[in-house]
Amino acid sequence: MNSLYIALHVLSVVVWVGGMVFAHRFLRPVVAAQLEPPQRLRLWVGIFSNFFPYVWAAIIVLPATGYAMIFSIWQSMSLVPLYIHIMNGLGSLMIVIFLYVYFVPFDKLKIAVSAENWPAGGEALNRIRFLVGVNSLLGLLVIVVASGGRFLL
Ligand code: HEM
Repeated sequence: MNSLYIALHVLSVVVWVGGMVFAHRFLRPVVAAQLEPPQRLRLWVGIFSNFFPYVWAAIIVLPATGYAMIFSIWQSMSLVPLYIHIMNGLGSLMIVIFLYVYFVPFDKLKIAVSAENWPAGGEALNRIRFLVGVNSLLGLLVIVVASGGRFLL
């Protein structure tokens, strides 16, 4: 089963972290330069509405497969190497940040866009942009720790 768990684990990472990096580093600057607030904010609601269901799947699959591997390989949390503890801690932080983004600023963004309140929408989008930036960096850091950790920690 571990081969299935690691495959699902890494696929979730690719979709979640890859999606964030693409949106934040490559899509956002072009959209910001080319679209006015009404089109830009509507576009982001559409993009997040497509992307966030995949993030929901990832935040369920990552801990589920992660703990399944922990208990099948090391049997107990007290025996796992340091890099797994770091992955677990930073991964949990990423999940909390996503849940906050989903339930607070994303909700505000949707309400602002349907009320055509562009300044409020812009504020909510700024908050999402900052937090997705933080989660992208955390995600890349966790990938480094997770893949290099067994040789270092
Ligand atoms: C949330 C709780 C998480 C737990 C409990 C967990 C646990 C694990 C475990 C047990 C492994 C197998 C390690 C090994 O065989 O040496 C693993 C692999 C991996 N994890 Fe996590 N993980 C979690 C979240 C994450 C997150 C959020 C990311 C990235 C953003 C991530 C990235 C990876 C990667 C890239 C590997 C493959 C490492 C390799 O085989 O080289 N994990 N994880």
